[in-house]
Formats: sequence, structure tokens, C-alpha cells
Amino acid sequence: MDLSQFEEAVSGLPLARTAFFESVGSTNDVVAAWAREGTSGLCLAAADEQTQGRGRSGRRWVTPPGSALAFSLLLETGPAFDASLLGRTSGLGALAACEALEALGLQAQIKWPNDVLAGGQKLCGVLPEAHWSGERLQALILGIGINVAAKSLPSPETLAFPATSVEQAAGRPVDAGALLRSVLERLLAWRLRMAEAEFLQAWEGRLAYRGQQVQLEAGEHSLQAQLLGLAADGSLKLLVDGAERAFQAGQVQLRPLVDRPGK
Ligand code: BTN
Repeated sequence: MDLSQFEEAVSGLPLARTAFFESVGSTNDVVAAWAREGTSGLCLAAADEQTQGRGRSGRRWVTPPGSALAFSLLLETGPAFDASLLGRTSGLGALAACEALEALGLQAQIKWPNDVLAGGQKLCGVLPEAHWSGERLQALILGIGINVAAKSLPSPETLAFPATSVEQAAGRPVDAGALLRSVLERLLAWRLRMAEAEFLQAWEGRLAYRGQQVQLEAGEHSLQAQLLGLAADGSLKLLVDGAERAFQAGQVQLRPLVDRPGK
């Protein structure tokens, strides 16, 4: 994506601050710095290339130039912000991305909490980051990376989960600027509705492996369970040895029962 595609993608959207970088370390770090400077309101940073992109659990996220979408939103967190919605933030990004991919004709699904899959392969990752100053939420950041072209994929041996790109899944070229616009429109609409049951239903309805047996990994430990759905706080409900249990994002990694190597 270039600057003119970015400007077209964000034109008319209610964003307090935007920036586009040809190359940057991590767009999550850009908006975190804005928050430290006191910038408020809904802000967006995007980059064509990231040199220090990161994913969940300390993994690298590769964004080579001219091939992917990498962007971060600084969400509003004024005194009226409902902190009980924090657990729904990764769902916000994943749901918006999933719907935008559906609009391209893909059958996208969400691998809880933050991966978007097409045909069982990952093409988008979401990284929510909360920065606290004592008890006060100083910044809530939602970073989203989407593999648009095949050349955005890292080498297969570095993948922890099979990956694909939007163009491979769609079987045709895709305009990255238009896709960014489509994700942002959905994100801006859903962010106002995160407290609603309909938000949770839309997220849950797109969960991969629902009703199926999955494997959960927490550090050295691993267990098998049936994936039931989402709890109100966005945690994952599972049936473990006949008892319903809920797991928070960050506690566990989810895999389909047949193990596969994640981006
Ligand atoms: C994951 O799947 O582990 C999450 C990947 C999140 C990647 C995005 S790209 C934009 C933003 N900047 C980053 O450094 N990471 C997120």
C-alpha cells in the first residue's frame, strides 16, 4: 500500500489522527507513543513495511513491503470506558477483519482469540495491547496484520500454524487500500456496539472449531476439550472432562486436535 491508497482508505472516517509510514518498526509502538504524548480520540497508524512487527506470545510478525496490511488503532479510553470490555477487544479486530474478508467472498473464521483463517489457514492476526498507569488504562491499542499477497508469508519452516494470503484464498488480486477501508468501516461500527449481545453473537458465530474437540496448550501443559463458545467477557468456554470451563486469552493457545505447525 502507498500513501495515496492509505489517504483514500481513511478519507472521511472519524479519526482524530492518522499516519502512514513506508517503513516503521511496529505500528503498535507508533500509536503507543502517541498515547504517551497525550493524543486522544480514535487514531490510526499504518505501514507498508514493519521491521519490528510483533505478534502474540512474543512472536515476530513479518510485514515485507508491498504485500500486506499492517495497522494499529489507538482506541478511545476516556473515564467513561467500560474496562469489562477489554476482553472483547481482540474480538473487535478479528470480527471486523472476518466480515471484510467475507465481503470479498471468502469463508473466513476466527480462531479464538485473534486469528482469522480462510480454508483453515491463517491470513490475519490481531494484537490487542493495553498500557496501564497504575489502575488507569492509559492506552488500548488494536494492531492488525493481514497477509494480502502471497509474498507477505514468511518461510514455511518459521510458521507455527499454516498460513495463506487473501489473494491466494480469493484466487484473484485484491486492492489492499479497499480492504483496509472495509476493515476500518466495520471496526468503527462494531466498536460502538461492543457491549451488545449481538457483538458477542457475531464473534461467536464465526468461531472456528465450534462443537469440535480442540487441544489447549498452556506452557508445558496441554489438554483436550470440546469448544463450546464464548463467555460474556470474551473468554473461551470449553467442556473439559465433562465440566464447563472458561479460559482467558493469554492463558492458553488453541489448536485443532490434529496438531499443525502459527505465524
Ligand atoms: C498475531 O497473530 O500473533 C498477531 C499479529 C499482529 C500483527 C499486527 S501488524 C500491525 C501491528 N503492529 C505490530 O507490530 N503487530 C500488529
